[in-house]
Amino acid sequence: MSAARAAPRPAGAAPRHFLDLRDLDPATLRRILELGRACKRGEGPARPFAGRTLALIFERPSTRTRVSFELAMRQLGGETIVLTGQEMQLGRGETIADTARVLSRYVDAVMLRTDRAAKLHELAGAASIPVINGLSDLSHPCQILADVMTFEEHRGPIAGQRVAWLGDGNNVARSLIEAAVRFGFPLTLACPARFAPDPLLLDWAAGEGGAVRVVADPAEAARGARLLVTDTWVSMQDEPTEERLGLLAPYQVNAALLREAAADALFMHCLPAHRGEEVTDEVMDGPHSVVFDEAENRLHAQKGVLVWALGAAG
Ligand code: CP
Ligand code: NVA
Repeated sequence: MSAARAAPRPAGAAPRHFLDLRDLDPATLRRILELGRACKRGEGPARPFAGRTLALIFERPSTRTRVSFELAMRQLGGETIVLTGQEMQLGRGETIADTARVLSRYVDAVMLRTDRAAKLHELAGAASIPVINGLSDLSHPCQILADVMTFEEHRGPIAGQRVAWLGDGNNVARSLIEAAVRFGFPLTLACPARFAPDPLLLDWAAGEGGAVRVVADPAEAARGARLLVTDTWVSMQDEPTEERLGLLAPYQVNAALLREAAADALFMHCLPAHRGEEVTDEVMDGPHSVVFDEAENRLHAQKGVLVWALGAAG
């Protein structure tokens, strides 16, 4: 146990959870991004997390999230413990709340990738340490934070810039909707009706004054956009049925669709990509694509999340 954790947390010091973008106000999100950028520039203390440990729990596979969180923690002087749901007592029926109470006595923060968003909320409700959403069936806030960082590195402030989402209105799309509201950019999602985002989330976005639209026609969404974003047509909890793939086929991001966008449009994909399905090689490997900058920025953006959540920057 770290020295920092040896003392009981002062009453009233609520842990800083990072569960969904909509939970945080724009100033806090901007602060987290700025902390991430400062880490990327190599500013700040060299080892702010010395003696601190992050637990990473994966109930679903991961490449980027696992590697970037592990590296983020190590590069800032801390340590990680990586667990899968199956190897924990969680997999044999121990409650999430009890798991949260136990982990809170050992480690300084926990990241969970799960197939059920409710588990994240249950974990956060019972933990006295920060809980970070490393993807759920409903959202992927770390990814979209990295996407905003990437856009702004290439094109300046994202506020007011037209963004288009093409394809499945999935977990990543949900976090993008929340980002549109919190970072103030107009977002058009082109999705088949069957895979459109949850109307309740769209109502929330409208109620918050967000400019979020859902259309059926991919060209309409792409027209004039400065950023095109897509993701797999088959997320980890989905079945790859012929029907699903057939409905999503018209939403492929290819050279023809890219021509509808602004001349300097960027292309992003959280990865892993299914080349030839939601995106062609030509777009993935073409001059508009910033997918590997985006993947790299997971590391930097998550350092911002960790510095903010663990209080290393006050
Ligand atoms: N984009 C993303 O979260 O990738 P992984 O599933 O590899 O972590
Ligand atoms: N929507 C994808 C994202 C993977 C990072 C999934 O949930 O599988």
